[in-house]
Amino acid sequence: MKTYAVVMAAGKGTRMKSDKPKVVHEVLYKPMICHIVDELKGLGVDGIYVIVGHKAQEVEKLVDGVEFVLQKEQLGTGHALMQARSVLGDKEGTTIVLNGDAPLITKETLKGLIQYHNDHHLQGTVMTCDCDLDKKFGRIIKENDQVTGIVEYKDCSPEQIQIKEMNVGEYCFDNQALFKALEKVTNDNAQNEYYITDVLKIMNDDHLNVGGYKIADLAEVGGINDRVELAEATKQLQLKVNKKHLLNGVNIIDINNTYIGVDVEIGPDTTIEPGCIIKGKTTIGSHCHIGPYCEFDNVEIKDHVEIKFSVIADSIIENGVDIGPYARLRNHCHILENVHMGNFVEMKKATFGKGSKAAHLSYIGDATVGSDVNIGCGTITSNYDGKNKFQTVIEDNVFVGCNSNLVAPVTVGKNAFIAAGSTITDEVHEDAFAIARSRQVNKEGYSKVLEEKRNQINKK
Ligand code: UD1
Ligand code: CA
Repeated sequence: MKTYAVVMAAGKGTRMKSDKPKVVHEVLYKPMICHIVDELKGLGVDGIYVIVGHKAQEVEKLVDGVEFVLQKEQLGTGHALMQARSVLGDKEGTTIVLNGDAPLITKETLKGLIQYHNDHHLQGTVMTCDCDLDKKFGRIIKENDQVTGIVEYKDCSPEQIQIKEMNVGEYCFDNQALFKALEKVTNDNAQNEYYITDVLKIMNDDHLNVGGYKIADLAEVGGINDRVELAEATKQLQLKVNKKHLLNGVNIIDINNTYIGVDVEIGPDTTIEPGCIIKGKTTIGSHCHIGPYCEFDNVEIKDHVEIKFSVIADSIIENGVDIGPYARLRNHCHILENVHMGNFVEMKKATFGKGSKAAHLSYIGDATVGSDVNIGCGTITSNYDGKNKFQTVIEDNVFVGCNSNLVAPVTVGKNAFIAAGSTITDEVHEDAFAIARSRQVNKEGYSKVLEEKRNQINKK
């Protein structure tokens, strides 16, 4: 039996008060829609269909491995689902339908929903939860303890408002029964919308089996409708992720002040100091010391690495490296074993060889640096002529004196020595000493002459 998933993500999300569509907003540095799609991929379904509408392209560019279905006008969740008829309507199997604004849903909970649906031989199942009555969720209507329908908050009678069991916006259906029932959904209600929720009553009236899968905790499926709920979801997920890492042996000093994305992996005996934001597909090995105050995005960090007060993106850091404070690495840097990179060093698209050092105040861009190289304080690769970028190659064991400019394209051969303050424009050969600056001139006794001159000016 095949299982399909539909995510309803076409809505604008008016209450977010944003130019961006709601599902693009990030929970713990990852867009809502990506949380949901990744969870569905983990669950393993036979097809994922994402209904897009409001600013569809902004949603589409974030996700791959799914089929997008356009809902041109957002006329309600039932209408959203109807748009999938041409791609899904004929298929035999089970379809789960998810609200796009509940990004904390887990595959375990969805498994529970599908299992319940199958075990009870249902054609339509709604996930429910007992909630506080101030929630504006649809109310679950039951007769003799059997679900017979859902009434939207705005359509509820005063008695129905008092029902605690509510719809959390996740469903499971027999696919063909779903599309048959959708044909009968109308927009005859308080909001003049086509509601997916009507499907349950329609199925029940048609003598199909419908039911409710009640979960104990609203936390995963509370739904995000405004920025308060967005911030609350981020806090909730932050603590959940941090606790997972603590239990895996990661030493997180302050769980409230450390932000680790859901796709990050960290090895045991690594310490994370406060103020770190670690996101994307970052991996950190074991016995590392990270922070305080680092931001990593898509970084691969091996073991025994120390990094403090630094911003690193899209780079690889090998074993035993120490970086910071105040370093910045971006755009595919590869920092090899036992490198020391110190204060205020920026690297971009650079490979920095084993045991090499750039201890202070340097910019190394579009460069390949060999092993055991010393980059003196203030060294700069001049990689840009205003239009194009050029490569600098520094071979093994080179010593670059302080405050040197390496004007690319340029190569410095093995064991070469560059005198401090040089502006290197031509190739430096292996074992050579390069000095490229004007000679110092000393005028003996001239400081006294200068003083005389200054005094005469003051007298005038
Ligand atoms: C919905 C349910 C409500 C439930 C609540 C749980 C309906 C009619 N109501 O209400 O019973 O208690 O979720 O959170 O479904 N969407 C589209 N196209 C549209 C309209 C919405 O794709 O035309 C998407 C939205 O982007 C969103 C999801 O469907 O991701 C839910 O829509 P939303 O307007 O937030 O529904 P609620 O009013 O929260
Ligand atoms: Ca909602």
